[in-house]
Amino acid sequence: MLYSEEQIDDAVADVLLATQRMRTSAFGLLLYVYLQIMKLMFAFDSVGKQMEIFLLKPQVAMHIRMLVCYHHTNSGKNASDYPCPGVPPRRSFILQPCSSDNLGHGTVKFIGLNTKASILMMPPLDAGEKFGEIYDVVLILDDREHFTRSKNGSRSKKFMESIETEFKIQIEVRRLEVGDGLWIAKHKYTGSEYVLDFIVERKHVDDLFSSIKDSRYRDQKLRLTGCGLQRLIYIVEGDPNSHEAGETIKTACFTTEILEGFDVQRTSGLGDTLRKYGYLTHAITNYYGAHITNDEMRNTRICPSYKDFLKKCQDIDKMTVSDVFAVQLMQVSQVTEEIALSVLELYPTLLSLARAYSLLLSLSGINSSFDFLWKCCYQSKYVPAISELPIHPRTHVNLARETMKELVEAMMFVLSSQFWRMAVLWTFSIIFSYLQLWWKSQSFPRLSPNIKTESDGRLQRPVCVITGATSGLGAAAAYALSREGFYVVLAGRSTHLLSEMVKEIKQRHPDAHLKAIQVDIASFQSMLRFKRSLELWLLGSDMHPSVQLLINNAGMLATSYRFTAEGYEQMMGTNYIGTFLLANLLLPLLKNSYVPSRIVNVTSFTHRCVSSIQLDEETLTGKYCSNPKQYQCAQVYEHSKLYLLLFSYELHRQLNRVDKSNQVSIMAADPGVVETNIMKEIPSYLSLLSLKVLKLLGLLQDPDYGVHSIIDAALAPLETSGKYFFGGRGRTIRSSVVSYDTKLSEELWTISSKLFLQLKLEFKEDSS
Ligand SMILES: NC(=O)c1ccc[n+]([C@@H]2O[C@H](COP(=O)([O-])OP(=O)(O)OC[C@H]3O[C@@H](n4cnc5c(N)ncnc54)[C@H](OP(=O)(O)O)[C@@H]3O)[C@@H](O)[C@H]2O)c1
Repeated sequence: MLYSEEQIDDAVADVLLATQRMRTSAFGLLLYVYLQIMKLMFAFDSVGKQMEIFLLKPQVAMHIRMLVCYHHTNSGKNASDYPCPGVPPRRSFILQPCSSDNLGHGTVKFIGLNTKASILMMPPLDAGEKFGEIYDVVLILDDREHFTRSKNGSRSKKFMESIETEFKIQIEVRRLEVGDGLWIAKHKYTGSEYVLDFIVERKHVDDLFSSIKDSRYRDQKLRLTGCGLQRLIYIVEGDPNSHEAGETIKTACFTTEILEGFDVQRTSGLGDTLRKYGYLTHAITNYYGAHITNDEMRNTRICPSYKDFLKKCQDIDKMTVSDVFAVQLMQVSQVTEEIALSVLELYPTLLSLARAYSLLLSLSGINSSFDFLWKCCYQSKYVPAISELPIHPRTHVNLARETMKELVEAMMFVLSSQFWRMAVLWTFSIIFSYLQLWWKSQSFPRLSPNIKTESDGRLQRPVCVITGATSGLGAAAAYALSREGFYVVLAGRSTHLLSEMVKEIKQRHPDAHLKAIQVDIASFQSMLRFKRSLELWLLGSDMHPSVQLLINNAGMLATSYRFTAEGYEQMMGTNYIGTFLLANLLLPLLKNSYVPSRIVNVTSFTHRCVSSIQLDEETLTGKYCSNPKQYQCAQVYEHSKLYLLLFSYELHRQLNRVDKSNQVSIMAADPGVVETNIMKEIPSYLSLLSLKVLKLLGLLQDPDYGVHSIIDAALAPLETSGKYFFGGRGRTIRSSVVSYDTKLSEELWTISSKLFLQLKLEFKEDSS
């Protein structure tokens, strides 16, 4: 097989790239995977036959659905970013949303329709029609559930009927291909049936344990994720604590809930489960009744008809060559779904992996790759470490080119006014803030959060939403607040980073109560989805439908001019506009709190560099830029942080005007200079250098320390609403003079509110 020099170059780069991305000794692992497959397959020409055998196994398709879904919801990466030499580009998978909390994103195909993920599907409505007037919600239970079978479960059947009467709901028993229960919207006049976006799998702890042992547990979850419905509910009956394999069961539940995005609900037994079905039916009926208007239908997907849904479930088992390859990879011991997907991302088929390896091995100077591979099967010393691999001369040239490019970028940045503004003005601003600490600061104690004990003994934990919780200060705040007893909702752009962060916090603090929900605060639509997911999660978890603390932490320091989904300049759109919009979207939930609630806006000392502002919609949104190549990133960042302060003080004044008791208090928090990823867009040589200098000056803090001002603000007494927290130990100082300009803050409020209303109209958000 002949390859061009470029293709060979690309192949080496691909494998190097893959091993770097996987961090572990992934080269060895990739090789190991390959070897194992070779062992399975013996030779390439038998691949076809092997695949046929795999195709016959229906349950393998389930693995694939889960893999594909897991991969796409977690990585957000496109396989075509990593082309494989001599191999056609990977076909696009049919994605299925796997999460009940909107961890999925991007486009999703459901029964042949191209649709947007994470927005709940709605049954069709004509103009002027209301859901409640047209549809009945009917709970469908699988006829194989033992309480639905009359011959050996007449007592249970009676119980089911009593639930029907008690909750005034309709229950029908039918054969379900997937899940144990789901809900349909039945048209009152035509009788047509549409499957609503919720599905339940029920398991008693005993059954759960045996299904974990024999892999049925995973297969059932895969079937659920593959069925196309978004809200996946797992009901676990019985007490895992009193089970001999309690830890295994709890770990499985944890993985199912936190990492795979199911809503895991626990019930004490069959009766409790049926009652749970009753409550869920009410919640779903209320949700659809309250949220669907005909106008909203334009932005949402239509629920599949019951017939289409059944067909879709029957089709779940069909799979493709890439699907088969993923399953094969997972047959190899130690190859997890994540590893299999990473391999698949680069090499969509076994053949493409094999080709890349033969190339790599020939480049390593090993002539007989098969000899080598077979030796490797038994003698691991033959597996070359990545550092031992000879790098192709062209790759050396590329590396040198990259280094040169970075150096030139760094030089250009040093020559720009932005660099000097950051280096000089920002340093002065932080020093000024520290001087204020010493000169005139006020200190406030931290109060413990209000954790209520319900009449049934359950703890009602305050809910805290933290944006940008996947890195730096947001991650540190999530950990610190989970330790304080909050139920922390981690909100971030990347589902993969979110699940990593949940794992990390759980490792440090196993009792932490965490929920991960995906959101991009540079997209209004994503924020709407976030709000809906949050509401649904609160509703489904028997929690008070409110939020007690919102920490607006997400932020960025962009160095190039680009736009958000709504066409605003990216940095302003994220740091200020996105924060303003999210705070306003979530305000009803904060106002609904059973205890005083709070918003903490994370701002920065850099706001002090702004001495005057000219405010209008165009400047705020940054839609117009005279010279995009000379993007004034430092100024935009400073302005965005000043706007956050103006917004915080204005909201404080407005809320204080209507309610003196500070039911919702607003604090600003400035963490100082913290070593995080905030400088990731600054040329790496410069960011390293500046960190060194800041450390020498004694100004640099680590996130666990820098987060103190945010936690102070979150736990300070009510009367500190409208204050600026800086320096930790509960201390507040004054922000810049401009930030207290009430006229300016009113103007900013008016412009920002106009944007908010425009977007709400555009996206037809239910203002309730
Ligand atoms: N570090 C400092 O010295 C310092 C000083 C003063 C103020 N601050 C402020 O502190 C806050 C946290 O920053 P950091 O220092 O911890 O930086 P960081 O490590 O870069 O964290 C920023 C977080 O915000 C998230 N984020 C960015 N854009 C987002 C979007 N459109 N939607 C959702 N999440 C988004 C990031 O997610 P991704 O990982 O997906 O990008 C990341 O999780 C920022 O508001 C920053 O301005 C930082």
